[in-house]
Amino acid sequence: MSIKPAIVEHVAARFSSHFQTKPKVLSWAPGRINIIGEHTDYNDGLALPAAINRYVAMAIAPRDDNQIIFQSENYDEVFVIDVDQLATLKPEKSWHRYMVGTLCISKDLGCQLGGMSIMLTGDIPAGSGLSSSAALILALLGGLVELNQIEFDAWKLVKASQRVEHEYLGVKCGLLDQIGSQMSVANQVLEVDFQSLQVSPTEYNLPGYSWVALHTGKSRELAESAYQTRVTECQQALERMSALHPHVKTLRDIKDHDIQGDDTLAKRIRHVTQENKRVKMALEYIQNDPENLGKTLYASHQSLRDDYEVSCDELNAMVEIARRHKACVGSRMMGGGFGGSTLNLVKTENAQEFVDTTLAEYQKQYPDLKTSALIAELVGGADSVTL
Ligand code: GLA
Repeated sequence: MSIKPAIVEHVAARFSSHFQTKPKVLSWAPGRINIIGEHTDYNDGLALPAAINRYVAMAIAPRDDNQIIFQSENYDEVFVIDVDQLATLKPEKSWHRYMVGTLCISKDLGCQLGGMSIMLTGDIPAGSGLSSSAALILALLGGLVELNQIEFDAWKLVKASQRVEHEYLGVKCGLLDQIGSQMSVANQVLEVDFQSLQVSPTEYNLPGYSWVALHTGKSRELAESAYQTRVTECQQALERMSALHPHVKTLRDIKDHDIQGDDTLAKRIRHVTQENKRVKMALEYIQNDPENLGKTLYASHQSLRDDYEVSCDELNAMVEIARRHKACVGSRMMGGGFGGSTLNLVKTENAQEFVDTTLAEYQKQYPDLKTSALIAELVGGADSVTL
């Protein structure tokens, strides 16, 4: 079981003062960083995610009536659902859709839904590319499974939470965020192979270095259609390659010499195949070779910017400013792209100063964007307790 973060006590106290009764179940799910391996998850590739000390937390208790009452601390808003109407609801607001989708899908895991009071809170900035949505789904799903005393199976939760994104939000994401949030182990990174679905927690050794996430302030919430375009392009690229080379069953089977030309589909495949190689290199460099690891992060950024074309001016500016700081050995855009955060590998003793100067420099170019920073601790995955 992972250590209960402080935000869980906080949400329990908020529950008691708001609903005037004690919660029965507490649940939490962390955000994630991804060391490397971007846009590889839906292409049978490799990645290295890890959960971070930012969370969504919920406190839940059954009610005697048929209402499910969500009280969100962040939005200072109440959302009430009648259990009998759940199946027909099509809410407008996205956090409502996440909650409705998760409730519906939880039934397929065997949850019986009755009236409930739920207090929710979180400290993962929405749209920052740190997987606040996967954490939102997994915190509720984990809480419902706990309340129903259903035996815990991490893969079932991970796959069910992906279904919420696919079926209720229309986002055809891979499994990177869900695996990172649910399966992480404290102070380790997860080596994930999305083809075999093998997840191996891996110790790493980078004494004196920290992972720093810098949010550009440009939300990636509206980036879904561009994400979907990349998913479709990769499917088209695979069809083209399989027609030319019968040995190609997934993008993983493509060899460098198979990639001809420089058109859009060739560029997309080049990114995916090279990114998989960079993950393997990073796995070596993560054992005490920060300089080469950093170079690999810069190479990943360049590939995401030029070949996969999912970066944006704000992310490029943040990476270039970070690169000029002597404490930074590597920087790249992280997550889906078109906004959100960069990930930086930085000397720990200068980490705070790096954050201050990099953000100050960036804000000169983008004074209106609301940035934020996290010097990450790598934590264990989502969990829940019955009180
Ligand atoms: C988003 C998606 C993930 C993954 C990343 C890019 O975070 O939710 O499934 O595709 O983008 O690596």
